[in-house]
Amino acid sequence: MTIKQKHLHELNQKMAEECQCALKSTAINVVPGEGNADADILFIGEAPGKKEDEQGKPFIGAAGKFLNEMLASIGLKREDIYITNVVKYRPPGNRDPLPDEVADCLPWLEAQIQLIKPKLIVPLGRHAMERFLKGKKISEVHGQLFEIKMPHIGKRNFYTLYHPAAALYNGSMRKVLLEDFSRIPKLLKKIQ
Ligand code: URA
Repeated sequence: MTIKQKHLHELNQKMAEECQCALKSTAINVVPGEGNADADILFIGEAPGKKEDEQGKPFIGAAGKFLNEMLASIGLKREDIYITNVVKYRPPGNRDPLPDEVADCLPWLEAQIQLIKPKLIVPLGRHAMERFLKGKKISEVHGQLFEIKMPHIGKRNFYTLYHPAAALYNGSMRKVLLEDFSRIPKLLKKIQ
């Protein structure tokens, strides 16, 4: 285990114990995130769904399977990346997280970003995008690289994608997502 992996493991344990998010009372499990603490790419979804809540792991349902296929298409496995959500607990009935719930979980996400220090942060869908690219439209910023300096996490590269769950059964969105995704390896090279 590398030092970073150890520290991330400790951070995620602390999150499970100390996160004040109200969703804790209805969720089965905390879903802190999963993958490689030394990853170049950090994917961020919105919130865990039913399967994720049951198993305490992010992106293990249909959207996760689609994501795995897209990763394979650029030669990556889940073990090569880190993946988490803005909100660390499942909102009941998969409703959108409330502002207070996001505010309570955000410091933990920021701490994960500070620790992993990914070269590229990939918000999946408009809710995750909104945390970083405030007031933007996903239809306008998907597939574009933004370098943004933010409090707590410093200067970071963001590359927003449509959410795999939204694109899964929408032919045109799916095509755009696949095209955007295929550009990730070149982007990483550019950043390095
Ligand atoms: N959708 C998300 O945004 N996150 C998950 O973990 C699963 C589905």
